[in-house]
Amino acid sequence: MSNSAEIKINGKTYELPVIEGSEGEVAIDIGKFRSQSGVITIDPGFKNTGSTKSAITFLDGEKGILRYRGYTIEELAEKSSFLEVSYLIIYGELPDQKTLEHFKNEISHHTLVHEDIKKILDGFPSAAHPMGVLSSLVTSLTAFYPESLDPNRSSDEVDLSIIRLLAKLPTFAAWAFKNEMGHPVMYPDNKLDYTANFLKMMFGLPVEDYEVDPVVAKALDQLLILHADHEQNCSTATVRVVGSSHASLYASISAGVCALWGPLHGGANQAVIEMLEQIQADGGDTAKWMAKAKDKNDPFRLMGFGHRVYKNFDPRAKIIKKAADDVLAKLGVNDPILDIAKGLEEEALRDPYFVERKLYPNVDFYSGIIYRALGIPTEMFTVMFALGRLPGWIAQWKEMRENGEPIGRPRQVYVGSNERNYVSMDNR
Ligand code: SDX
Repeated sequence: MSNSAEIKINGKTYELPVIEGSEGEVAIDIGKFRSQSGVITIDPGFKNTGSTKSAITFLDGEKGILRYRGYTIEELAEKSSFLEVSYLIIYGELPDQKTLEHFKNEISHHTLVHEDIKKILDGFPSAAHPMGVLSSLVTSLTAFYPESLDPNRSSDEVDLSIIRLLAKLPTFAAWAFKNEMGHPVMYPDNKLDYTANFLKMMFGLPVEDYEVDPVVAKALDQLLILHADHEQNCSTATVRVVGSSHASLYASISAGVCALWGPLHGGANQAVIEMLEQIQADGGDTAKWMAKAKDKNDPFRLMGFGHRVYKNFDPRAKIIKKAADDVLAKLGVNDPILDIAKGLEEEALRDPYFVERKLYPNVDFYSGIIYRALGIPTEMFTVMFALGRLPGWIAQWKEMRENGEPIGRPRQVYVGSNERNYVSMDNR
């Protein structure tokens, strides 16, 4: 592989360095190209443009490979736990037993939030979307921990902010749900592990005991692992850009929550279920909806299908599809929209439009079906995605800060009016 590339423009040839990653990915470094040539490159949506070098997650979209710090998603989903994976992603290595226990204990003892945060929660109407509540409560941490605003704190202080965020996000998520239900919030129970504690805060009520179903807790833990990081996706790129201005971790994560909310990104899991329910209400005619998805004049898209990077099966979708079968069987749930989803997938995988464009089910296509079976309401699905993605966002923010990366500030090509003189009102 050559270690340089040439660009010929305006009669001159410019030699640019080429870098190669540990998995053989190759990039042309254009960092000095404008200063040498006066010319920039342009790539709306950054479809072919790398923003950084990262050691956290590797994915190969053509081969359907996803690894966190070198470990395959398949092994981690089968053998690990969400907090162990969170430690791995954030600190780079699998923790030994002592380290993991300390990490878990630290998180357990920071799950409670300041009582005044309930006043912020109470200000939201029950119709508020939980993602808007979640991003607001995350931002509120800057008010209760003002020392977290200092971008140059010690690593111990950053670690404490990380623990607080991992510990409090499930509390915020469950409280956002309670606010929507008009129910009293449930406080954390430090005797329970991460997912069981979240489920009890979500579904428990002060007036009755709540027993966590181990099948549900295990399925949720696996779903969180599958969402934990995904290199430079829209919300992670947002976290890195916001953090590059030396905004605090809490401010950067709050921005990531908002970016994830969009239906083309993390909001797709909610949109998938709404789409499947629409198809079901319409009589289950999947062929009609497939035709709509292919019709350029119809804004309808097959939600949960397609991906910017995966041009093969999203490996997470494969695991989640199997988990959906297992969880629904174990819980004795028979959800007709799972059959509609499978029917759509079978049709899409043999339809030339989808095959030519390499559109496969992504992580969001089946996840909502499991969340439904676990009793999680549709508008909470993207909140579940945020809970899973949190360690990834944290790790990416931490890597960007530790590498001293510059503030993110893209260039542009101006296509507006050339210079012109002001026109007085009388002459317009
Ligand atoms: C996530 O980046 C990540 O890693 C994200 C994520 C993560 O873990 O962080 O994996 C999570 O966001 C998964 C994606 C969830 N979104 C959806 O399921 C929404 C539906 N999917 C699409 O909107 C779309 O596939 C995107 C947004 C996911 C990707 O869009 P791209 O890469 O910009 O591709 P594109 O829109 O240019 O589509 C290429 C072609 C177009 O047709 P042509 O112009 O070539 O004729 O494929 C078509 C599109 O119209 N197409 C679809 C389609 N997705 C793409 N047509 C119908 N239904 C779809 N779902």
